[in-house]
Amino acid sequence: MKPTVTPSGAALGARVDNIDLSKPITDEEFDFIEKAFHDNLVIAISGKPYDDESLIRFGKRLGELELNVARTFRDDNLPQINVLSNLTVDGKPLGSADAGQMWHTDLCYNRISGHATVLHAHLVPTRDGQPLGDTAFRNMYQAYEALAPELRARLDQLEAVHEFEQLWSAMIARGSKRPPYTDEQRAEKPAVVHPVVLVHPWTGRKALYVNRALTKSIIGLSPSESDELLNFLFDHAEDPRFAYAHKWQVGDTLIWDNCASIHLATGGYDASTPRLMHRVQVLGDEALYRQHNKDRGGRYYV
Ligand code: OGA
Ligand code: MN
Repeated sequence: MKPTVTPSGAALGARVDNIDLSKPITDEEFDFIEKAFHDNLVIAISGKPYDDESLIRFGKRLGELELNVARTFRDDNLPQINVLSNLTVDGKPLGSADAGQMWHTDLCYNRISGHATVLHAHLVPTRDGQPLGDTAFRNMYQAYEALAPELRARLDQLEAVHEFEQLWSAMIARGSKRPPYTDEQRAEKPAVVHPVVLVHPWTGRKALYVNRALTKSIIGLSPSESDELLNFLFDHAEDPRFAYAHKWQVGDTLIWDNCASIHLATGGYDASTPRLMHRVQVLGDEALYRQHNKDRGGRYYV
């Protein structure tokens, strides 16, 4: 059967059927996936759960894989794999139980904006036959385009600082059981600068590139002006006009764009309804990033 793509009908998101990621895919299948991905920003490829080697093999078709700075629940043998779960084994958590619970973009804390995240569902919590724990998304092309022209022109000139530690500290302040942030993590992920409006390295379209969890400040503004503008942009970006909520099915491989979308793990389930996801994160492409964003962004903040 030929691959098909069915858009969600919402602001972003689509389902792709008839591609089996448990086996190496053909170049034609890869091209089909890449087009569906750039057209829809979030795609779910249907299937049955498969092993980590297959997830890594597929992720590597999209680019080089990140070794996540949150070392917890990173597999020592396959360090590209992160486990997200609310399960415990012998009293020990099997995976990160509260990943992604603030609006964010993966890997914006890297010097080069992230490309994609690939999240594969082994166990999906349900109640009365309905999946729980949707992943919510917003389309950042649309968020940018919906702003007033004068504000867009102003934002086009601005740059913002992003840092992983901000999210980590905010989660601890909210009661997360994650360990304290270490100097080693701080050294590994120094604050970085990106344009507030990122020209998407693959599509050339402009997207709003700030998020509540990881964006710290806008360069050149006073702290209060920066907070005011950022809070306005966070509220705007999170508006339901730009929304898609992914309802998980076991075996789904969800691929999302980390340059033109933000996302949120909505939770809403407890330990009686297990969730188990395996993830790889795909790094950006420095040459493409620079080609589209010239000398702006992509540097460390000092
Ligand atoms: C992530 C993430 C959302 C979810 O893995 O980066 O944000 O619903 N996950 O698990
Ligand atoms: Mn995430």
